[in-house]
Amino acid sequence: MPAADPVTIRYAEPADAANLAALAIQIWLQTYAKDGIRDTLSDYVLSHYTPERMAEYISDPDRRLLVAERAAHLVGYSQLHLAAACPSDTTARAEMETLYVQAHFHGGGIGAALLEAALAQCQEAGHGRLWLTVFHGNERAIRFYHNHGFREIGTDDFIVGDERHKNLVLIRRAAAF
Ligand SMILES: CC(C)(COP(=O)(O)OP(=O)(O)OC[C@H]1O[C@@H](n2cnc3c(N)ncnc32)[C@H](O)[C@@H]1OP(=O)(O)O)[C@@H](O)C(=O)NCCC(=O)NCCS
Repeated sequence: MPAADPVTIRYAEPADAANLAALAIQIWLQTYAKDGIRDTLSDYVLSHYTPERMAEYISDPDRRLLVAERAAHLVGYSQLHLAAACPSDTTARAEMETLYVQAHFHGGGIGAALLEAALAQCQEAGHGRLWLTVFHGNERAIRFYHNHGFREIGTDDFIVGDERHKNLVLIRRAAAF
């Protein structure tokens, strides 16, 4: 594909559900399965990222899914949940549940574009702040979020099977700097 193919950000549609499930599994495993694949990880991705689950998210009135599309291929997506109380500050109720860009496209500004669009959606829905959790060892993502104005306000557990992993809880104002 020519490098100049533009990336567009659009709302996810029901027809995107299977591609979003596959994309989410690819990015999740690329990010977290650093030592290879084991039962806990397979069970997690195959039960959480199904086309049926993605279709439910797309049609959920409390969620907003955006996809980044390039040359008729999905290369990233964001998922906002507008009715999710933050564990470290329950008055904040807009969560960035997912911000994923396929590794081949990291560093090209797609993550920033998805985040900016999601912040606008957050404001449109009347939320003044956006919160999220990020695995404490995910240094690239933590740096990305700090660069985009998020600050740490606590920690939370991320449960995968019978394993607990430490997540940081980050928050920022939904308005631009
Ligand atoms: C975190 C993530 C969403 C960022 O997406 P991205 O598309 O790589 O983000 P951007 O390109 O906007 O910015 C990333 C970096 O590239 C740099 N960058 C931005 N535009 C660039 C460009 N045109 N050329 C080169 N570098 C660029 C930015 O300065 C930024 O630097 P940083 O790593 O120091 O923050 C992406 O790395 C990702 O999906 N990771 C895997 C999944 C994940 O961890 N998600 C978050 C879990 S909570």
